[in-house]
Amino acid sequence: MLVTILTLFPEMFPGALSHSLLGKALGKLWDLKVVNIRDFATDKHRTVDDTPYGGGAGMVMKPDVVDNALKYALSLYNDMPEIIYMTPHGKILNHSTAKEISANRAGMIFLCGRYEGIDQRVIDYWKLNYNMREISIGDYVLFGGEIPAMVVIETSLRFSAGIMNNKTSVEEESFANGLLEYPQYTRPTFWNNIAVPEVLLSGNHKEISSWRISISEQITQSIRPDLWQIYQKQHKSTK
Ligand code: ADE
Repeated sequence: MLVTILTLFPEMFPGALSHSLLGKALGKLWDLKVVNIRDFATDKHRTVDDTPYGGGAGMVMKPDVVDNALKYALSLYNDMPEIIYMTPHGKILNHSTAKEISANRAGMIFLCGRYEGIDQRVIDYWKLNYNMREISIGDYVLFGGEIPAMVVIETSLRFSAGIMNNKTSVEEESFANGLLEYPQYTRPTFWNNIAVPEVLLSGNHKEISSWRISISEQITQSIRPDLWQIYQKQHKSTK
């Protein structure tokens, strides 16, 4: 699967993506192509941005340059990849969006904006004609889409076959079943005079499993009442 990044700061990649399990799988289970948007500028000064019509602060990325970069990225694929524009105006990323994105075996193209944004016409055009998604990683603003793109890549690739060494952990972790994950403990049995919950030492797998479910429910209810409400509704409807 090929992941293509369109950015004005190609040196930011692979960065965090070259470490741990994703890093080990890079070049084997997935490939990364980093493209400098500036290479698609058409004038001798390699201009990628201009002042906004109507005035205001900052610079806006030019539609022709961004369109050329996107067309080039798309030409790298035989099948239609996910095309994703990272923007605080997008749909907020969650577990199910990440899973959906990872299901596209062709891969992903990420458009990372900088400055005040990108000319709206090229955004609308690619949304309409190529189903480009707009994704945000939360209700706050960063300087650009590069770190958000890394977040989407990391969480999506965790669903891809062969990247995680323990398949069950993706299915058991937080959000997979709509609940936050239960707490984990390891040796020593006593630390700072605090004991590990006794049930975990019992060897009784059935009891351990129901303890974990019950504690997951308790923490979700107290920390994330929004998730708890959805979980309760889903569980009522399946009964
Ligand atoms: N670019 C700037 N801020 C962002 C955010 N919160 N999510 C995605 N892309 C962004």
